[in-house]
Amino acid sequence: MAVDAFHRQHLGFLVVVLLALALIGFVADRLNAFKLAYLHVMRADFLGVQKADVMPVAREKYKGVLVGNMGYSADEAEAAIAEGKLDAVAFGTAFLANPDLPARIRAKAPLNAPDSNTFYAGGAKGYTDYPTLQVA
Ligand SMILES: Cc1cc2nc3c(=O)[nH]c(=O)nc-3n(C[C@H](O)[C@H](O)[C@H](O)COP(=O)(O)O)c2cc1C
Repeated sequence: MAVDAFHRQHLGFLVVVLLALALIGFVADRLNAFKLAYLHVMRADFLGVQKADVMPVAREKYKGVLVGNMGYSADEAEAAIAEGKLDAVAFGTAFLANPDLPARIRAKAPLNAPDSNTFYAGGAKGYTDYPTLQVA
């Protein structure tokens, strides 16, 4: 299997499909056997179809490093990590719109709002042209 060509502890697993609570529990539990670097779970979907909070179930079942995302603010991410709900939060659209996102979070500076019209548009617009803090 292709995964054997890599060190498993350097691999992560991202759950991108919408899983029902029972299914995320099953998947998270089974992934323990793979000794992955991390499990990354999207807690919701862009369309708001997924209502249930899958993160507590993933946390309960998965024994390794748990990364979550989808709609976290920096404050919510910090609180969730401090409370042990997960180990790290990944930012998607906020990073697209803010190439200097870590600096902005550190400085508690306002964020550029992502423009969803440019998501998956196929060009550079919306990927390389958001202003950094110095020029915002
Ligand atoms: C335009 C766009 C491209 C994305 N590309 C990827 C990708 O290549 N791989 C991936 O794992 N997630 C990708 N994502 C999903 C994000 O990593 C993330 O899961 C999603 O944006 C939700 O997090 P957020 O609320 O912080 O934006 C993409 C999202 C957007 C909007």
